Amino acid sequence: MKMDDRYLELGIAAAREAGRIQMIHFGHSHPVEYKGEFNPVTEVDRLCERAIVKMISEAFPDHDILTEETPFEAKGSSWKWIIDPIDGTTNYLHGFPCFSVSIGLEIEGETKLGVVYVPPLNELFHTVKGKGTFLNGERVVVSHVDRLNRSLLCTGFPYDVHEDVDFYLRYFRQFMVRSFAIRRPGSAAIDLSYLAAGRFDGFWEFKLRPWDVAAASLMITEAGGKVTDLRGRPYTIYSEEILASNGLIHEEMVQAIEEVNSKKGD
Ligand code: IPD
Ligand code: CA
Ligand code: CA
Repeated sequence: MKMDDRYLELGIAAAREAGRIQMIHFGHSHPVEYKGEFNPVTEVDRLCERAIVKMISEAFPDHDILTEETPFEAKGSSWKWIIDPIDGTTNYLHGFPCFSVSIGLEIEGETKLGVVYVPPLNELFHTVKGKGTFLNGERVVVSHVDRLNRSLLCTGFPYDVHEDVDFYLRYFRQFMVRSFAIRRPGSAAIDLSYLAAGRFDGFWEFKLRPWDVAAASLMITEAGGKVTDLRGRPYTIYSEEILASNGLIHEEMVQAIEEVNSKKGD
């Protein structure tokens, strides 16, 4: 077995295991703790994280791990697994079946593979750098919608949105006016994977973290789409903001954002 295949197989197995744990506990009430005022974490986030980390560290004890709920000391490895054990915890807590597991692998600073598993729908997205994006084993590509006013957009809000609601609403309002429609599903990894599969045409969000985007941002570029920051500049998973699209409406989205930015100083 090639090394690439071993990483992918492990990423998929770990994501499926976390998904299995999520579904066992889904729909039951869970004690919630809060990181900060609004950012929830449950025992299920931790159970999923433990299961994924165990599988990865048993297979590759030298690899680094960056995961949402537990800080692990960096070992200085060229391999870094980037994990969101439940993306969409708020949905999960409310019994709303839109949540996922996200696992990405960075090698020498570049994301090389990603897995996003959506257990309620049994949808498994995977991507490998240079090899495309797949949904349950079938290749997917971004949509062909080439006008913003015909596009279905998607977004999300950070947990501290309450501190500056007007800021986020300015962008939301602009895209409400310019696009066909907007959705806010509540799991950035799902949002971006759906964009890769042609279900959404564009996406923007502020303050996402590497574990939200590591796997799914590669899904988009490997499916023929484009990912930048909100000004259209180069993007990394450590960027503070993300603009992703099928490529065809990207420039129109950048311009729409520029209009909002230039009005802010009025
Ligand atoms: C959140 C989800 C949500 C996004 C938030 C994220 P979590 O992740 O991806 O869609 O809008 O910014 O923090 O907390 O459910 O892992
Ligand atoms: Ca997340
Ligand atoms: Ca999470």
